[in-house]
Amino acid sequence: MRPSPIRPEPTPARSPVNIHNEWDPLEEIIVGSLEGMVIPPWEPGMAGPMYEPHFPLFKTQGGKPWPAELARKAEQELEGLVRVLEAEGVKVRRPAPVDWSKAFSSPDWKSPSGLGAANPRDSLLVIGNEIIETPMAWRSRYFETLAFKPLLKEYWAAGAGWVSAPRPQLHDELYVKDFVQPKQGELGRFVLTDHEPIFDAADVIKCGRDIFVGLSSTCNHAGVEWLRRYLRDRHGDTYRVHELLFDDQHPMHIDATFYPLAPGKLLIHPQRVVKVPEIFKSWDVFQAPEPHIPDEHPLYFSSKWMNLNMLMLDEKRVIATKGEERTLELLKKKGFEPIPIPFWNFNNFGGSFHCATLDIRRQGSLQSYF
Ligand code: ALA
Repeated sequence: MRPSPIRPEPTPARSPVNIHNEWDPLEEIIVGSLEGMVIPPWEPGMAGPMYEPHFPLFKTQGGKPWPAELARKAEQELEGLVRVLEAEGVKVRRPAPVDWSKAFSSPDWKSPSGLGAANPRDSLLVIGNEIIETPMAWRSRYFETLAFKPLLKEYWAAGAGWVSAPRPQLHDELYVKDFVQPKQGELGRFVLTDHEPIFDAADVIKCGRDIFVGLSSTCNHAGVEWLRRYLRDRHGDTYRVHELLFDDQHPMHIDATFYPLAPGKLLIHPQRVVKVPEIFKSWDVFQAPEPHIPDEHPLYFSSKWMNLNMLMLDEKRVIATKGEERTLELLKKKGFEPIPIPFWNFNNFGGSFHCATLDIRRQGSLQSYF
């Protein structure tokens, strides 16, 4: 059944969407879902960020369901996250079911299937009172926001801003042909050209008026420039967009690399961040310790550094991975109150707590922290 038409508020009092940073007290969040998630079919954009041992899986099994036992364990952990968030007083929202196994096409290409809605942090960027649907790098993810449309309509009707960045064409010219992944120390080489503006929302991290965007194989310079100009046209000089470059051999998303956890506290990846921007000179900048996640976790989409990928409930309480003892110790030493939850099985499907969620409303207002 199709939902009934939306009835926008004529003069909304307060936007239900309000996000300025990663740490103001959290009130409402979207948690992704593994329901119907399929193995993404191989496409040119995957040659940059994905890990070679998994290439054959994407090339031969694209569109098929994930191994049921792995998916079931991940689903259990995700439901555990939902329970903890609710127990902490956060309102949790979930995506609508979508048949991700369906093929689709543009006039120029075909995708044998979609992917899923496990990682809402990628397709939707929340800045202030507005949600931006992002111009994502992968063809299989072209329609990913369908899972969030009922929520987007609801938030918009109640007064939130809602816009889509230019829909990308995702022509072959966007992707470097026969791409060879960079070696350590080889910065700035990505699978994407600047054929058109591209970014995933998880390439962006917010710190009040300062917004940090990591160039990657899912975010090109044109994408950063689109976001900078869009925010300037809409908000004048309110925001400063900083473009960053990391030493990452599978560059995709900033949130396991560079994470302002709270005012004055920046967590960084020990190898990828070669230069901390000058603006952080008065901050405590600390490196994440080596992850503990055991080798048997296949991690289809990411590195082992999911220990950085946390979720702040406020300036102190942080959801972090159970078993990542070195990280939990560091957090305590830095004055945080970690809430450890098992999540290594979810990590197999493309990220950790930050990836699996999308903050919709936190208390607080726009500020500068520098
Ligand atoms: N691409 C990031 C990593 O794997 C999230 O660490």
